[in-house]
Amino acid sequence: MTETITITRPDDWHLHLRDDAMLQAVLPETARHFGRAIIMPNLVPPVVTAADAAAYRDRILAALPKNAAFQPLMTLYLTDHTDPVDLAAAYADGLITAVKLYPAGATTNSAFGVTDIKHVMPVLEKMAAIGCPLCIHGEVTGADIDIFDREAVFIDTVLDPLRRALPELKIISEHITTKNGVDYVMSADQNLAATITTHHLIINRNHIFVGGIKPHYFCLPIAKREHHRLALRKAATSGDARFFLGTDSAPHTDPNKESACGCAGVFSATNTMSCLAHVFEQDGALDQLEAFTSLNGPAYYGVAPNRDTLTLVKSTTPVDYPTSIETRDGPVTVFDPGYPLHWRVV
Ligand code: DOR
Ligand code: ZN
Repeated sequence: MTETITITRPDDWHLHLRDDAMLQAVLPETARHFGRAIIMPNLVPPVVTAADAAAYRDRILAALPKNAAFQPLMTLYLTDHTDPVDLAAAYADGLITAVKLYPAGATTNSAFGVTDIKHVMPVLEKMAAIGCPLCIHGEVTGADIDIFDREAVFIDTVLDPLRRALPELKIISEHITTKNGVDYVMSADQNLAATITTHHLIINRNHIFVGGIKPHYFCLPIAKREHHRLALRKAATSGDARFFLGTDSAPHTDPNKESACGCAGVFSATNTMSCLAHVFEQDGALDQLEAFTSLNGPAYYGVAPNRDTLTLVKSTTPVDYPTSIETRDGPVTVFDPGYPLHWRVV
C-alpha cells in the first residue's frame, strides 16, 4: 500500500541563497518544493540598504528556473549604522519582510553585525512602531562563553531584556537549538516565535565529533546535547503555532567545509521535506507536518498560506537524492540524516 500525504506548499522561514554561481546552483533546490523563503542578507558585502535588497531580489528572480513560482522574502542586515528611514520605506514598499540581527562575530559574514544592542535601539523602536519583524541569531559572542552555552546566555542577557524593553517588537528567535530556547518561546504569549532547522531535529553534538570530526554537521548555532534535540522535536511536532520551519540551509563548497578552518553551515534544501516527513512520522505526528512547514510561519508573519499543495509519497525503496550538488564554485554536500529516507516529493 502506498502512503501519501498532501500538505499546503511549505515555506522556508530562514534560507541562505548566496550569490552568483552558488545562487544559480542552490536556488532550484529550494524553488522545487517551497513557495517562499526568508532570504538571509549575510552576503559579502551584506544586504544593508533598501537598494541592496532590491538589487539582490532582482538577481534571485533572474536566477529562478523558468515557470518557478517561488517568491523570495527579502531581509536587511542590521548594522550599528542602519538608517531607520531607509528601513521603514523598504518595509512600507513591501520590498523587505523582516530585518536580521547578527551579533557581530557570531557566525559566517557577521563582522558587520550589531556590536551592542544599545546601538540599534532607535532602529528597533522604529521597527516596533511599523510592525516590521526582527529575525535574531541568538548567540552571544564573548570568548569567555562556551560555544555550547551561547544560546542560553543570549536569552538571559540580551533577548529577555530586549523583550522587556520593547514588548511590541515582533521577534523570531531563529534556528533555536536548546531546550532553553523552546522553554523561553513557550513562556511568551505574544510577539515571539522560533524557527527550527531540519538538521537540529536530527543530529546532536555527537554526530559532529564521535568517530572522527564531521565538518558537514558543523553549523552555528552548533548542535547541542541529545536532551536539547528531543525538546526541539517535541516543539516542532507539537503543532504549537510559535514554532515553524527555517531550514538555515547554508551552502559552502566542500573544500571550504573540509578544511583546517571549516565554514559553519549545513546544506539541506535538497532533501529537507523528505527528512521532515521521516521525523514527523517517527514521532507519530505526520498530521502536524503541515502546521510546522506551511501554516505556522505564514500565521506569525501575517500572510496567507500558499494556495497550492505539495505531495509526498512513501515508498519501500529509499529516495534517491544526490549526495552533493555541483556548482561552478565546486561541489556542495547535501545533508546526510544518517539513515535512508523513504518519503519522496512528487
Ligand atoms: O551555520 C551557519 N551558517 N549558521 C549561520 O548562522 C550562518 C550560516 C552561513 O551563512 O553559512
Ligand atoms: Zn542562517
